[in-house]
This record gives sequence, structure tokens and C-alpha cells, in this order.
Amino acid sequence: KRLPLALTVMLFLSGCQSLQLNFTDENNQGLSEEQISGNVNQEQQTVNEEELENSLTLPSEFFNQVVETNGVNVIQNYENIMALVNKSYYLPETYIPTDLVRANVAYSFGDEQVEKALLRAEAATALEEMFLAAQNEGIELFAVSGYRSYERQEVVFDVEVATNGQEAAAEAVAYPGTSEHQTGLAMDISSRSVGLNLTQEYENTIEGQWLAANAHLYGFILRYPKGKEEITGYKFEPWHFRYVGKAYAGKIYEENLTLEEFFDIVKEI
Ligand code: DAL
Ligand code: ZN
Repeated sequence: KRLPLALTVMLFLSGCQSLQLNFTDENNQGLSEEQISGNVNQEQQTVNEEELENSLTLPSEFFNQVVETNGVNVIQNYENIMALVNKSYYLPETYIPTDLVRANVAYSFGDEQVEKALLRAEAATALEEMFLAAQNEGIELFAVSGYRSYERQEVVFDVEVATNGQEAAAEAVAYPGTSEHQTGLAMDISSRSVGLNLTQEYENTIEGQWLAANAHLYGFILRYPKGKEEITGYKFEPWHFRYVGKAYAGKIYEENLTLEEFFDIVKEI
């Protein structure tokens, strides 16, 4: 009887950072017209947030179960396709997905058999579906970088620090253990229009725009959107798509949420 109790105490279902809701100045004193109309929008937004909070539910198995180890929150249910992996929630250093496969899509590096071609099976199938749909609409996509081991992420991170310094690196590359690429559920995607590079210019291409508008139909979300850098902790990445499954990708897209905001709002059932 004791162990389950101890485990219950150790494990807790994580919500994440509290959502920053905007509250209005009751009297609107000393505010310009522009600010007042801004407040009306914010009131509307607050009401919508409440409605959303009441309507969004998620079974408990999809929430992170974490144990604090050496001062960091380490995710225990790391195979959860909705795992929230970010600067606050780490994957175990030893975690390697057991169902990694190469997707049947075009890669920026051709037929080379490399780790970064891999994704977890479910995400790989969804990626194939998405790339085919794109192709049918005349949109040519290339997979650039998928699964990255903890060790590989260490190398990528160290190179970034050496090139751009610690501060800039932290806004662009995840610290080892905190990258979605280690889940095998994230793929960086590019096109010839930007030389198959991972660049913010991708936002202005038909391919980048197609992905931003359609990825959710295949279970992917644009994980680091423009304007939400403070919430995600990363600069805008129009190329990084995270598989979360079709059941919730649409909701996250429609409500314009980051995964952090989604977990702040969604009710556990
Ligand atoms: N570029 C993203 C944040 C990563 O390194 O996982
Ligand atoms: Zn990425």
C-alpha cells in the first residue's frame, strides 16, 4: 500500500506555466481611445478563454507525468504523443523511441541512411500522408531533420553555442534532453524555394504557407509560432512541425495555441 502512495506523491500531472490572461482596467481611466478599444478586444479574449477552458478536455494519460530529478522535471510517460517537451520538461537522457522508422518522403539529403531521417511510426505515416497531399496540390516538400538522439542534440547545441554564443543558442536550439526532436515526433521541413534551408524566409513561400495552413489536418502543429516566442522560449521556426495526433492538432490550430497554452487551458478528464 505504501509504494503506490509514495508514487502518487512523487508523480504529479503537470499543467505548465499559467496562461497570461489580460484583465481590463475597470474604469478605463487615463487610457487613450486606442487603448480602450484594445481593452474591449481583451475582454472578448478573456470571455473566449473561459469558454475554451470549459470546452477543451483531455484524458489524463496525455498529460506529462514528471518526477523532479537533479532539479529538473523529467517526463516519465515519454511515449505520450502529446508530451510537452520544452525548457521546463525534460526527456530522460536515455530515452530512445522504440518504433523509429524512415518515412517514405523526399529528404533534403536524398537516400542517405541517417538518424535524422527517422520518426516514430505514427508520425512517419502522418508525414507521408501530408507530403502526398501537398504534392497533389503542386507543393514540393522536403524532410530535413527528424529524430535526434540526446547525444546528437548535445553536438548540435554545442556547435550553436560556439557559433552564436550561449544566449542566442538558447533561443534557437534546445538544450539536450529538452528537444522535441528526441521524441521522434518532430520534423523540420523545407523546400527548394529557400534552398532546402531552415530559414524564417520559409514563412513567405507557398510551401511554408501551405504547411502553416494544412499541417493540422495531418496531426502536426507549427510548434514555434511568430509572436509566441515568450511562451515557447524559441524564435519563430516556420519549418518545425510537431506531431501531436489528429485528435487535438485541429483544436490547437483553430484556437491559435502553442502546446504550452493548450496544456494551460485544457481540462484533465
Ligand atoms: N530548434 C528546436 C527548438 C530544437 O532544437 O529542438
Ligand atoms: Zn526542429
